[in-house]
Amino acid sequence: MITVCPSILSADFAKLAEEIQDVEKKGARCIHLDLMDGHFVPNLTFGIPVVQAVRKYTQLPFDAHLMVEHPETYIDGLAAAGVTYVTVHQEACVHLDRVLQAIHDAHMKAGVALNPATPVTTLEWVAAQVDLILIMSVNPGFGGQRFLPYAVEKIKQARALLDASGNTCAAVQVDGGINRKTAPSVKAAGATFLVAGSAIFGASDRAEIIRFLQA
Ligand code: DX5
Ligand code: ZN
Repeated sequence: MITVCPSILSADFAKLAEEIQDVEKKGARCIHLDLMDGHFVPNLTFGIPVVQAVRKYTQLPFDAHLMVEHPETYIDGLAAAGVTYVTVHQEACVHLDRVLQAIHDAHMKAGVALNPATPVTTLEWVAAQVDLILIMSVNPGFGGQRFLPYAVEKIKQARALLDASGNTCAAVQVDGGINRKTAPSVKAAGATFLVAGSAIFGASDRAEIIRFLQA
């Protein structure tokens, strides 16, 4: 079962609530929220107040992708805002184990994202306690970039690592450059959470592309 998570980074920020309701109506199963702080990545988006503001406009679970330094400082606010998944970057966490525990203590699901250059093996000792591994298939910070093909091998490695640690319930998510062309290979590699921004929000028929990615 594939979960398609539209990334609102490519939505019209001037009418965010309507954009979220539109993709919900068109079959999305989750909303992907890209929080960027202008430090961890060279771009700035929105923070917890915006997450809070849009929460009441949809029933869909919120999936927060934290491209920020000190992600531990966001955990309580995201929990209060009604977020389901919190994904932190391995590269942003000196004390990754502690951050994962804090996310679980706040009753949310915990994910870890890996930049393209970061090996999957860095997650060996936390694989058993994550709910999700996010393989970045572009360098984080911007929508509409080209898919890095070596991400496919990393998805396979992440799936194998989770299975080897007995964590068969955890999901592998992929984010960046996912579209009609790239989706089949990431699904075949074992990704079950597909994030897509420009491919969905830029489509003339959003229901059709969501159906395609979900299939
Ligand atoms: C990029 C973000 C993505 C972004 C993907 O740093 O994490 O979620 O919105 O955009 P597309 O699907 O256009 O590559
Ligand atoms: Zn993202």
